[in-house]
Amino acid sequence: MPVTLVVGGQWGDEGKAKIIDYLARDADVVVRYQGGANAGHTVVVDGERFAFHLVPSGILYPRVTCVLGGGMVIDPVALVREIDGLVARGVDVGGRIRVSAQAHLVMPYHVRLDHASEARKGRECIGTTGKGIAPAYADKAARDGIRMADLQRKRADLEALVRERVREKNRLLRAMGVAGVSAQRVVADLLTARRRLSPLIMDTRPFLWDAVESGRDVLCEGAQGTFLDIDHGTYPFVTSSSASAGGAAIGTGLPPSAFKRVIGIFKAYCTRVGNGPFPSEDHGPEGNLLRDLGNEYGTTTGRPRRCGWFDAVAARTSVRLNGITDIALTKLDVLDALAHIKVCAAYRVGQRELDYFPADVADLSGVKPRYESFPGWKTPAVAGASMPSRALAYVRALEERVGCRIALVSLGPERSAVVQVRRARSSHEGTRRARRRPSA
Ligand code: IMP
Repeated sequence: MPVTLVVGGQWGDEGKAKIIDYLARDADVVVRYQGGANAGHTVVVDGERFAFHLVPSGILYPRVTCVLGGGMVIDPVALVREIDGLVARGVDVGGRIRVSAQAHLVMPYHVRLDHASEARKGRECIGTTGKGIAPAYADKAARDGIRMADLQRKRADLEALVRERVREKNRLLRAMGVAGVSAQRVVADLLTARRRLSPLIMDTRPFLWDAVESGRDVLCEGAQGTFLDIDHGTYPFVTSSSASAGGAAIGTGLPPSAFKRVIGIFKAYCTRVGNGPFPSEDHGPEGNLLRDLGNEYGTTTGRPRRCGWFDAVAARTSVRLNGITDIALTKLDVLDALAHIKVCAAYRVGQRELDYFPADVADLSGVKPRYESFPGWKTPAVAGASMPSRALAYVRALEERVGCRIALVSLGPERSAVVQVRRARSSHEGTRRARRRPSA
């Protein structure tokens, strides 16, 4: 059975977990392919709020097996804590979490290096989540990483490896004017975590190949968003993994041909945390209003998110880059109270107009958004009632400007607040490329 891939279409925090949770009703396996505890995925079930950082949100469905893919970087202590937190809240995770032996470990020295690097950059900092993500991926690329597979080595070998890495990294930390970490403490915590994680670690690739070949429903979950992708995002203001659809094959071991249906998650407006270009950002009272109405504060760091209007230029680029076949538009209800709603239709650069998102941040720095304005509906859009006609008109206008059908709309944090506004495509029905003009 073809795999459904869910990808963030903007700068992360689009509400992916909400849609994964909706789609996971029918899934057998949910697999995450990149990132680490920098992600904060929130799901609300019967008024109860669950925040996930490492475990795929599909875990809330008892029949779903969750896989932490090889493209992830995982803090083992944080993973054990997250699993324990779920168990304490009555989620039966027994035998339903598999961790790829290929995934890399985020170690305490990575966290410290992340903070030290940000401090060194000062005003030019990236605004990371401070979870050690870039240093962990840097070690992976430098072939200096420690992988989940290493947790299954003989204790003495693992200990020697960790002590060696701590020695090297402490030298680096001290050179940056920061205290090193205690090797003894790092080893002790890792050995404790390994006792818990060892039974979950495996080569997850054959498991996933078998699942796909035997017709099981596999859902692939991206973290962060397209414009935080290490290659396609607003480099250097990006995360350190391949958050866009291309990363899914690498980060799971599933072949690119397995992915037929790509669901892009877009917020009905835009937000960004951390630094870097954000062309449709609203620095005025309307941006503040969006933040208040949408409760736009980071799940992982609690930071206030920068807020602005839906950026159709970025979204069009995202649709083409990811091969998005269907869009899920989230938080439409946040716009309920607004008198008018703006959409960035194009970027102006001097006398010219750009209709795609440039590859280099230098080309973004001078762009001025050209906005279109839509009348607000000033009435609550609620699931189960017919959608206010102006809300539907807004959705249709976005489809036109983005060049892809909007199949799902989310109107609130609850699981029940997802509305299907276009006929669902079966997972066999993904299109090879997004349609320029969606039909009803
Ligand atoms: P890092 O991934 O912690 O290295 O942070 C790099 C950039 O990605 C910063 O701008 C972060 O704010 C941003 N970022 C990382 N994870 C997320 C996320 O899950 N949602 C939104 N932004 C994120």
